Amino acid sequence: MNASSSRSVLLVISGSIAACKSPDILRLLKMADIQTRCVLTQGGAKFVTPSTLQTLSDSPVAMDLFPSHETESTMQHITLARWADLVLVCPASAHLLARMAHGLADDLASTLLLATTAPIIAVPAMNTHMWEHPATQHNVTTLKQRGVHIVPPAYGFMACGETGFGRMPEPSVIVDEVLTFFRTQKQKTGPLAGVKVLVTAGPTHEPLDPIRYIANRSSGKQGYAIAEAFADQGALVTLVSGPVTIPPPAGVRVILCETARDMHKAVMTTCPYDIAICTAAVADWRPETQENQKIKKPDTPKTNTSAPYSLTLVENPDILAELSHPSPLRPRLVIGFAAETENLIPHAQAKLHRKGCDWLIANDVSPAHQVMGGDHNKIFLLSRHDNKIEAWDTLPKTDIACRLVHHVLTCESAWRSSSK
Ligand code: C5P
Repeated sequence: MNASSSRSVLLVISGSIAACKSPDILRLLKMADIQTRCVLTQGGAKFVTPSTLQTLSDSPVAMDLFPSHETESTMQHITLARWADLVLVCPASAHLLARMAHGLADDLASTLLLATTAPIIAVPAMNTHMWEHPATQHNVTTLKQRGVHIVPPAYGFMACGETGFGRMPEPSVIVDEVLTFFRTQKQKTGPLAGVKVLVTAGPTHEPLDPIRYIANRSSGKQGYAIAEAFADQGALVTLVSGPVTIPPPAGVRVILCETARDMHKAVMTTCPYDIAICTAAVADWRPETQENQKIKKPDTPKTNTSAPYSLTLVENPDILAELSHPSPLRPRLVIGFAAETENLIPHAQAKLHRKGCDWLIANDVSPAHQVMGGDHNKIFLLSRHDNKIEAWDTLPKTDIACRLVHHVLTCESAWRSSSK
């Protein structure tokens, strides 16, 4: 299932050296299922070729207000302006910002920026002195007052050899702005608008001393993908995450934590939620004591007859079981995960009933399946209320996430119509 293929971004590329990063932006937008088309100014074409942009956007690149080729329309500024859900001016040169601020229409880019009624995000990129010049600052203020969202330039070393503000932010930062825009819009109009969703993700680390901890191999990829898929449908998502290396998803509230007890506290202090999905591989136990200083080996060497080193573990709070417990604050749908290495279905069935959640997603995490840390997953969805078990094909974790959201939407509409 493709959650979001209806989103379209018109990328307007003007004459700044940062235009050479536009292929990366197109690639990331494509990975996020966003359709793109490009408009290239004469200046932009000095830094990036139309054929590169055409290949990555799967569409011809528009450059001329009055195209010489008879197959191209002289109304492109209107058709493109109407096609876009969002216009991304990136990089926005000082010249294009000035033309936008003054309402000039002397090329295709500036004309369609007057013609469009779509929201506009502009990403200025230029030499520090050009950026700081009162004329540019005045133009930026005018554009902001008109509702253009300006992504401020970053600080750093620039192609002109100077260091300061003026650098275009990294493509991932810009694409996050686009995703945040679409997700914020969906929070008003999407099928899950107004629905509060909790996702727990990643491992927990249970410290032994200041430098050692007990952990597991969870990467957090499945949970992060689920958080993004719910956000794409307009849910207000809170992602409570253990330590992972994945960047925080755009348009999602992220609470980072380390231990199971931190995660438990983060969940319980942010309740209530409408839907909870506990994907986190929470440590079931933690060391009974956490030493303030590094634990040292005894001075006397270990012999065959010495007592073995031992560690006393105590149980952690069970977040999923607590969320599932009947109470006025219980989410209307609680989904747990069961990561097993043997007897997958019997263990999952037992866990579903023991925890009291509504659905349980079982997956085999034996090393041979490469699920932990990998990009694919094979899941079985168990439902407590009708005892059904659905087997899903092996899919990318992002597709599992979209399918899960689709499943939730289907079930929610069935519940709504049966309760009428
Ligand atoms: O008991 P077990 O760890 O196998 O259960 C797995 C499920 O329970 C997952 O959904 C996990 O997020 C959740 N869990 C939890 N708190 C714990 C242990 C597990 O929420 N302390």
